[in-house]
Amino acid sequence: MKTEVINITTEYERALEEASKCLKNGEVVGIPTETVYGLAANAFDEDAVRKIFVAKGRPSDNPLIVHIAKLEDLAPLVEEIPEKVKIMAEKFWPAALTMIMKKSDKISNVVSGNLPTVAVRMPKSDYARAIIEACGLPLAAPSANLSGSPSPTNAKYVYDDMNGRIPLIIDGGNCEIGVESTVISFAENPPRLLRPGGVTLEEMTELIGEIVVDDAVLNKLEEGATASSPGMKYKHYAPSADITIIKSDFDTFKSLCESENATALCFDGEEKSLSCPAVTYGDINDGFSQSARLFDALRELDEMGATKVYARCPDTKGMGLAVYNRLIRASGFKIKVI
Ligand code: TXA
Ligand code: MG
Repeated sequence: MKTEVINITTEYERALEEASKCLKNGEVVGIPTETVYGLAANAFDEDAVRKIFVAKGRPSDNPLIVHIAKLEDLAPLVEEIPEKVKIMAEKFWPAALTMIMKKSDKISNVVSGNLPTVAVRMPKSDYARAIIEACGLPLAAPSANLSGSPSPTNAKYVYDDMNGRIPLIIDGGNCEIGVESTVISFAENPPRLLRPGGVTLEEMTELIGEIVVDDAVLNKLEEGATASSPGMKYKHYAPSADITIIKSDFDTFKSLCESENATALCFDGEEKSLSCPAVTYGDINDGFSQSARLFDALRELDEMGATKVYARCPDTKGMGLAVYNRLIRASGFKIKVI
């Protein structure tokens, strides 16, 4: 299959027209969002959704997020809209925020991975919402990477993973946030945070009160344990390089990298005082600048052929929780406290 790439920033009308044509025909399209690129298909068409799983090599028990453009599009997807979801939607949507609810019978088991729930997000990206509106369909879309590799933050990375597997990629430039959306379940009370992302735990708690943080956000799931979010049991965000997170001050980090010939994954500016190869992932005091860089940095480490990587440890407050959550998975939970 030939994969066409259309740049929506320069060919807006044609991009919408072609994306809409493919999606209505039951094809899979790579689309930009503000978090990461998605692999989208008509959420109401089981055969189209199955093609997503094939293109990604994704296990069929890992459910997909359904993307909508307007609040009215939510009701048909769910059994009922819980009060707290209404409050959250009003305040945050469109945003990097995915909310899980009991599904309606319009959502097939292919989308929900056989769960009785459905995850729904209204993306902030104008391009993403324009594509949803153009085809008039809710779009099931996971991140547009091959299963197991880091989520793509630009169209080139989507092409690297999906060339020959899907007919069309819409290029909308770099993703502003750079890590996947916050996932929170309202299928239980108090709600449960399954994946930290662009809407922070602190912001949400301030609005709706108690939120349980699922164990898998910060810890490795025990062998055989049931995951609240199936995606969390799979190896994720992993580059080929072997990464260890170093919890220490910068001087200790520096001597460790230099004495052991490691490649450093460090904060902006720190590379200037390192004599080893280094890749940076944002400002030490700014979780959003770290999230915007993290997945690109992981792919750059692979492009450099780095084998042994030592990573600086981010703060876990605010957006830092999402950055830390992705980095511990990229490292296979290897953390050295010095
Ligand atoms: O930012 C994002 O969320 C991106 C863009 C494309 O919107 N999408 C994304 O999708 O990251 P994906 O499939 O890579 O991650 C969705 C996560 C998975 O861990 C999945 O297991 C979980 O959400 N999930 C989806 N539906 C669920 C459900 N009904 N119950 C529990 N977890 C669910
Ligand atoms: Mg993913």
